[in-house]
Amino acid sequence: MSQGKPKFYLTTPIYYTNGLPHIGHTYTTVVADTIRRYKRMRGYEVVMTTGTDEHGVNVERAAKKAGISETEFVAKMAAEWRALWDELGLAADEFVRTTDLRHVRTVQWLFRLCRENGYVYKGQYTGQYCIYDNAFVNDAKPGDNCPDCGRPTETITEENYFFKLSAFQKPLLDFYKKNPEFIQPETRRNEIVSFVEGGLKDLSITRTTIRWGIPVPGEEPHVFYVWFDALTSYLTAVGGPEFEKRGFWPADLHLVGKDIIRFHTVYWPAFLMAAMQPVPKQVWAHGWFLMDATKMSKSKGNVVLPRPIANMLGMDALRYFLLREVVFGQDGNFSYDALVTRYNSDLANGLGNLASRTAALIEKNFGGKIPKVTERKSQDEALAKEVQSAIGEVLENYENLSFARALETIWSVIGSADKYLTSEQPWALGNSEQDQARKAAVLWTTAELLRIVTVLGHPVLPASTEKVWALLGQTGSPAAVELDGLRWGQLAPGKQLGKAQALFPRVDKNEAIERIEAMANEELNPAPAAPAAKLAANATLGGAAAAPQAAPEKIGIEDFAKVEMRVGQIKTAERIVGADKLLKLTVDIGTEIRQICAGIAQYYEPEKLIGRKVAVVVNLAPRKLRGVESNGMVIAAAVGPDGRPVLAGFPDEDVEIGARLK
Ligand code: MSP
Repeated sequence: MSQGKPKFYLTTPIYYTNGLPHIGHTYTTVVADTIRRYKRMRGYEVVMTTGTDEHGVNVERAAKKAGISETEFVAKMAAEWRALWDELGLAADEFVRTTDLRHVRTVQWLFRLCRENGYVYKGQYTGQYCIYDNAFVNDAKPGDNCPDCGRPTETITEENYFFKLSAFQKPLLDFYKKNPEFIQPETRRNEIVSFVEGGLKDLSITRTTIRWGIPVPGEEPHVFYVWFDALTSYLTAVGGPEFEKRGFWPADLHLVGKDIIRFHTVYWPAFLMAAMQPVPKQVWAHGWFLMDATKMSKSKGNVVLPRPIANMLGMDALRYFLLREVVFGQDGNFSYDALVTRYNSDLANGLGNLASRTAALIEKNFGGKIPKVTERKSQDEALAKEVQSAIGEVLENYENLSFARALETIWSVIGSADKYLTSEQPWALGNSEQDQARKAAVLWTTAELLRIVTVLGHPVLPASTEKVWALLGQTGSPAAVELDGLRWGQLAPGKQLGKAQALFPRVDKNEAIERIEAMANEELNPAPAAPAAKLAANATLGGAAAAPQAAPEKIGIEDFAKVEMRVGQIKTAERIVGADKLLKLTVDIGTEIRQICAGIAQYYEPEKLIGRKVAVVVNLAPRKLRGVESNGMVIAAAVGPDGRPVLAGFPDEDVEIGARLK
């Protein structure tokens, strides 16, 4: 079957289960998925692994808060992570949970080897520990905050098993020297080399203060420290102690964010050297996606979720944006504006337009059959040459993980095709034999270019390139094309085109952003679950007649009491640039002045609202609308078929600001 194929093993970090995936995690997984697809098209047998990092104090606390056992909590969270990756088409071959039995065995095995080889000893440890990052903070004093997340550290003293990391300073430096490719990009390599040159302290690798972890055999209550446990998951995925049978270890590539490079390039190779096991070939650290120039985090309320974007624009659009916008390795800013702009310009107007235009012209002039070329002009040859050299460039860039450059090259070819069509004007040619021959040459050339673009773009745009492939009348999938055999000139004439289909419908920027944000708000602050079974039971089987609205589920007074509504007075009101429907209000609610966004801009003049008394929900979690914080909600009736908002108010009485609505 796959015998004889070279093997390639790549990993994403395993993700913490105390939160849900945002665009940052999605980024690493998208990169891994793209490499996986690319390597397959280059003839490799690939294993890509991801998973969940399920131990540690954070999980203990989160489970307690949720009122369920840790086991139940992590099972739920792992299922959510896995389901999201599936939904987004991010296809890992292995998913490791650190609570898997196979993983427990691997960790205990690796520890035993390190210990037998004399690299583990028992000692006392006192230090400042960040429970959020599951890490001791080196050199921190009591009272210091964690340099990574800024939250207070805790002083912990306990008996630990220590790993003799100090013994690995020279072996690591020698290893980096002999394997200059091991740490990428170069700047990270320099950072790590100087860190190791500065000296290495031994590392505590077990805990007695944590209960929720993998037990150290025969040494309970010691459990493994989270990094010894987590890093070992990479071995678990490909066979654990029996890794030799599958033949995928050592890993070819660990993809990580820059925040965890040290664990992967210092601790991990040292653990493996101590256990006398092969060390991975490469660790690649990418930058962060930032929101308003800071790292995303749920506590800051600035996370971007992948699902609403995929729902609105398609997953390929998100993949394209993540890989195109930022040079791999560097930080980049995420903005919905840039995302939708790129979608419209590069995907809808670029690739989508070229595909539908080419197909329509072939349909009209050649009955939907790929034409045959009988004569070529120099401009056809020039385009062919450009595409042929782009193939080499794109492959080289993929190979170096320079995704942005690979995509730039592909899109410059798309741009050349647009120019070529504009200057050759096949639509203006007549029906003479000569004109027909010219049309055939131009349209075959464009279709061939599109075929090559489709194959080259496939690792990044798996779903939409399948569509273009079918549109070009090609059988199978672009995934099955061997990249090494891809050449100009392979498009066979005579093939019947497939059915036209919308690839990337253009979207209105403001509307798209509003819809993405609304979906994201819904996901972050979910409304109580709709009683789906009841709704279904209440719907009539009345043919064309609309089903009557199901009676809403009744709630108790205690549920109603949870909503705190107060009388507020609008102090200022202004329009928000780029958001036609929203007004930014400041509202006095008696105890404070709140900023609230309201979707009433199309019906109310801002100036006329000042001084008006309104009903405000004041205990709603703050959220961002079009990037503007909204802290509360102004109540309005939705009137008529368009749901025109009419503000609820108090025209008859002089009600006091801040009075509670009951
Ligand atoms: N569980 C550890 C990894 C153990 S690997 C043996 C962990 N988990 S994490 O969920 O916090 O982060 C996983 C990855 O997501 C890291 O590589 C991190 O850099 C990445 N990202 C998290 N937020 C990010 C951005 N905003 N942007 C890009 N990637 C970032 O660390």
